Amino acid sequence: MSDTLTVQTHAARDSLRIPPPMAMLAELTHRCPLACPYCSNPIELTRGNEELSTEEWIGVFRQAAALGVLHLHLSGGEPAARRDLVELTQAAASLGLYTNLITSGVGLTEARIGSLADAGLEHVQLSIQGVSPEGADRISGYKGGYERKIAVAGWTTDAGIPLTLNAVCHRQNMSEIDAMIDLAIRLKARRIEVATVQFHGWAERNKAALMPTREQVERASETVTKAREKYKGVLVIDYVPADYYSSYPKACMGGWGRVGLNVTPSGRVLPCHAAETIPSLSFETVRDCSLAEIWYESDAFNAYRGEDWMPEPCRSCERKKVDFGGCRCQAMALAGNARATDPVCIRSPLREHLTRETERLSATASTDLVYRGR
Ligand code: SF4
Ligand code: FES
Repeated sequence: MSDTLTVQTHAARDSLRIPPPMAMLAELTHRCPLACPYCSNPIELTRGNEELSTEEWIGVFRQAAALGVLHLHLSGGEPAARRDLVELTQAAASLGLYTNLITSGVGLTEARIGSLADAGLEHVQLSIQGVSPEGADRISGYKGGYERKIAVAGWTTDAGIPLTLNAVCHRQNMSEIDAMIDLAIRLKARRIEVATVQFHGWAERNKAALMPTREQVERASETVTKAREKYKGVLVIDYVPADYYSSYPKACMGGWGRVGLNVTPSGRVLPCHAAETIPSLSFETVRDCSLAEIWYESDAFNAYRGEDWMPEPCRSCERKKVDFGGCRCQAMALAGNARATDPVCIRSPLREHLTRETERLSATASTDLVYRGR
């Protein structure tokens, strides 16, 4: 980072009293061999020839480290589709960034994982779609994917890289949570993250086939509670429950523009992965502006910072510092207004309608899935 940029960064931070970001999600590419029906990436994906080059990504990592970012999540699409993944990892690690690879496993070999370990990769999050080859491959739309993931898990732990399994759960695999946790133990993972499906991006098209039932959600919570007791000290189990069956929304992204930022494959900088669904916002790219200018000064990042933008009932609610009014993208999708109180909140005027709609969708008989490009 140039001295000029460092001075600008500090000046902006001091004038706005905005803390620096802690985490950055680098969506290295949208290319992906899988076709998960719950994919939260946009309907229109960034093409390979629009992606940032190796040098551009390294420049972004350098700016991120200078800005205060500590954790770098290398994601996609499938980040292993980038031939320069090892080079990018090495550059990030040499800048002192903690590097976490979020991967489907497809495209990784034992040799490549060894190179990533040598490059300084500190953690791998490996997605799983189910606990049987047939079931998991049907969901991911990729034959042979399950077997590859099992192999990748072994190569990762053999290389000494801590492993987390990421499992998105939905109506068609929620009965397998117990078995997913057992699989995590067998694969020597240190952590499993079981997250209930969210309906951003492509996932919206599969809402009826994926929406869990209330009974499934309640059973999932009990399963997780028992498993946490059983595997205490052995496996960390993170569970993200379905907020459409909860009373209050989650603090999405830890609050808009508070904790982290996302960089898309072509370099647009977003406060969250679904932010482009909010039509009133426009987003700068790292090709035009510095990361510091975007974080501290851009209209998009400042749109929902603080509390001034909040409508009632959030504005006078005691939970506004807990959940920050919920998810702006969910408010956009469900209320048609990104400033609205997140409709999953029991204090939202839309909550009753949402509950009826959730129950209607979860009772849909169809399990047909819509895959990208098919
Ligand atoms: Fe959160 Fe707003 Fe609901 Fe209060 S009213 S709990 S701040 S979403
Ligand atoms: Fe955008 Fe929640 S996904 S704020």
